[in-house]
Amino acid sequence: MTEETMASESIDSILHEERLFQPPVTFATKARINTRERLQELQHQAENDYENFWAGLARQEITWQRPFQSILDSSRAPHFRWFHDGLLNVSYNCLDRHLAQHGQKTAIVFEGEQGDTRRISYTELHREVCRFANTLKNIGITHGDRVVIYMPMIPDAVIAMQACARIGAIHSVVFGGFSAESLKDRIEDAGARMLITADGGHRGGKIVELKAAADKALAKGCPTIEHVIVCRRTGHDIDMHAGRDIWWTDAVADAGEKCEPMWVDSEHPLFLLYTSGSTGKPKGIQHSSGGYLLGAITTMKWVFDIQDNDLFWCTADIGWITGHTYVAYGPLAVGATMLMYEGAPTVPDGGRFWDICERHKVSIFYTAPTAIRALMKLGDALPARHDLSSLRLLGTVGEPINPEAWMWYHHVIGQERCPIVDTWWQTETGCHMIAPIPGAMPTKPGSCTLPLPGITADVVDEQGNSITQPDKGGYLVIKKPWPSMLRTIWGDDQRYISTYWDKFSGKYYLAGDSARRDQDGYFWIMGRADDVIKVSGHRLGTMEIESALVAHPRVAEAAVVGRPDEIKGEAIFAYVVLRGKRPEGGIDEVLTGDLRTWVGEQIGPIAKPDDIRYADNLPKTRSGKIMRRLLRTIARGEEITQDTSTLENEGILLQLQGKE
Ligand code: PRX
Repeated sequence: MTEETMASESIDSILHEERLFQPPVTFATKARINTRERLQELQHQAENDYENFWAGLARQEITWQRPFQSILDSSRAPHFRWFHDGLLNVSYNCLDRHLAQHGQKTAIVFEGEQGDTRRISYTELHREVCRFANTLKNIGITHGDRVVIYMPMIPDAVIAMQACARIGAIHSVVFGGFSAESLKDRIEDAGARMLITADGGHRGGKIVELKAAADKALAKGCPTIEHVIVCRRTGHDIDMHAGRDIWWTDAVADAGEKCEPMWVDSEHPLFLLYTSGSTGKPKGIQHSSGGYLLGAITTMKWVFDIQDNDLFWCTADIGWITGHTYVAYGPLAVGATMLMYEGAPTVPDGGRFWDICERHKVSIFYTAPTAIRALMKLGDALPARHDLSSLRLLGTVGEPINPEAWMWYHHVIGQERCPIVDTWWQTETGCHMIAPIPGAMPTKPGSCTLPLPGITADVVDEQGNSITQPDKGGYLVIKKPWPSMLRTIWGDDQRYISTYWDKFSGKYYLAGDSARRDQDGYFWIMGRADDVIKVSGHRLGTMEIESALVAHPRVAEAAVVGRPDEIKGEAIFAYVVLRGKRPEGGIDEVLTGDLRTWVGEQIGPIAKPDDIRYADNLPKTRSGKIMRRLLRTIARGEEITQDTSTLENEGILLQLQGKE
């Protein structure tokens, strides 16, 4: 592995994890897949007849308007096409097909941060989606147009996404925690014609000023935006621009309740979702319709074991891929009832999640390790106040979960009754890739276990050879295309190829993570192998933060690395070289505060550096490359063991270490 990879840096704590948890009998007896034999049967089908395995599932799980003949088309690899001559509509599959038998079933149970609740049946949701879809059409949005959605976690956000899908418009949801600047960049890259937002949202006891940020973004650019639809959520005063902005309620007032879905081909882009990579510019990950939908459905069934009477709660925001696949699409596509919560886990106190689970009788709960760690820290008394007996399955996603947090989740929340599904996947993969089948597979704290049927994940060395030796780290790759994979990076095919395919000459998909397998073949994710960090499960490119820092008039150069953080997983550590003199003793609290605010404005509050250290220079090799590994060592407060003799100025080491 290269000098830059994180292999073996963060691995010690989990290296000797040997606890094994069998599927609880009470769970397994009722599970969809509850024997090893059934699971092996699926795996064998996938291995023996890969394409027909997926085609069979696609016929069984999706309602097609015109059946597909072609399964996998690799003629333009790595731009793979799945089921491309089939016609479907994703919104039809999520709504219409359930109406006859389950129209009265609750689709969404919503709870606002301030305690307001709303229940929406499939019939009602269908009606609202149709009305909003007609509204979009009336305004002139058509097949292939891009629509940016910048909204709080409220059902209207799902309605907006589903309405786009219904008419073949391509949505791009921008996380409500991103700044005006980030919103503008994404709108411009997508060339969006419309923005759908809200006056604001409730989060952490405060109002998130979405409309104000949207106005700021549009004032700075975004010439392609013609209209802004504004949903009223908080009711506080906002500016409305005549001729451009329309209140949601006014816009839908005359819209009909029936809207024939637009049948699109399976490869039609369902959405773009921007995510961070190794360079400064976020990538618009482009997903398909048919293949993506299939991944969402199969994993809802295999990994979440979703059943008719479940109440499924995924806490992810719709601004992330998890909120797309396991809030906006997956649960609806399988006709489930899901819960949506608008706010923070700590309002009014750290028992809010458990209170929601108790009151609504949540049966499947899916969240991020960072939330588990933060709530664990608050102690066992908060969950103990609530009756959590409705829970039957727990899940985690977004970053490695440390065994201690896993065990707490298992004992205190799952009360040793609920299997835990640690699901490894990415914005790019569309759905779970490596995860347990909870009724048929034992789990180990900290491991995402084994690849799902039809997913050819492997760990390989620099040459692309499988690493067979247990516990030896390498690159995580996927060896065959899969239906829900990304199709490209919006407007940048070349970057798609160079980021994911060039490393192994187009043969394997490179995930960007390093991983190892243990003696049982179980996968352990070791972290990113590139310059991406995971802060509270949010994916941030270190280069993106560096670009934001150097855009500040006082900053000449910056290097950003991640350092371990007990709650957030990783924290952001920035080394900054100023124009002019370094502050006396390396300390300037006012400037540090300014830089943090600045990065918050450029990207969003999640990207604010936790530590900023000033130096006269950055450590570079003779070829001018920043020695990031050295910076990581220093950020962790560890002893420097690497060779530093090639540094231009060894003296800066003391400054970098904060000792001068
Ligand atoms: O590093 C891996 C980590 O999150 C990355 C993908 O981030 P994003 O596209 O934001 O999607 C997150 C939600 C799917 C991966 O490359 N990651 C995700 N899940 C896990 C994980 N790391 C360890 N264990 C997981 N279960």
